[in-house]
Amino acid sequence: MGDQSYGVDPATVDFIAKEIKDAVSMGVEVAIVIGGGNIFRGVEASVKGIERASADYMGMLATVINALALQNYLEKYGIPTRVQSAIEMKELAEPYIRRKAIRHLEKGRAVIFAAGTGNPYFTTDTAASLRAMEINADVILKATKVDGVYSSDPVKDPKARKYDTVTYIDVLKKGLSIMDSTAISLCMDNNLPIVVFNLRGKGNIRKIIEGKKVGTLVVKDHGTRVKSKDH
Ligand code: GTP
Repeated sequence: MGDQSYGVDPATVDFIAKEIKDAVSMGVEVAIVIGGGNIFRGVEASVKGIERASADYMGMLATVINALALQNYLEKYGIPTRVQSAIEMKELAEPYIRRKAIRHLEKGRAVIFAAGTGNPYFTTDTAASLRAMEINADVILKATKVDGVYSSDPVKDPKARKYDTVTYIDVLKKGLSIMDSTAISLCMDNNLPIVVFNLRGKGNIRKIIEGKKVGTLVVKDHGTRVKSKDH
């Protein structure tokens, strides 16, 4: 959405595509789970009277629009990209097939997972955690507008402190709202590290891959480091 109040901002998609291109060019396998809040927010709509399940399905459709926009920009930059949708709409995207997604990644293609998990009541973050587990990812990079996890809201509280590392259990106990509790629990149960970082910072994805300290690392114990199988 960028600085717009609604929709797809071409300059922002272009920026994100370049950031991802950078990562793919490093030889890293990249899968992307994309939200739809710039077009439709299921939870907000359900508060305003649309039945929650319907509102969530509408949100899932919004993620497909974003996926197609990002695919377009990635391919413009020479990154072969496949979109897989959790809700079948085969005229415009492949259906989600786990083994096929893994194969695409092995071939150096970026894979965008659209339509969440395909189920209402599950957020984009939960979809990201689930897909990460399914493709045996090393890490989830949770792209946000802030540069990490804070002890409280840094906009409202001048004493807010940024964590370099935080444990899953602290995120849950302290209600640090970086991802919903279903998503965090899934990562915790499967020991999948999360790096919360500011997507707007140029080069952040590359820096994280290079092992530089960017954002906040969410892990089981303080002191745990992200282990990479391939790099
Ligand atoms: P390989 O089998 O590794 O060569 O992968 P590929 O994705 O290049 O081959 P495939 O023949 O499966 O797909 C060719 C193109 O069609 C790719 O851009 C796919 O994303 C797309 N495609 C494959 N299956 C579907 C589908 O069910 N629906 C839509 N809309 N596109 C599809």
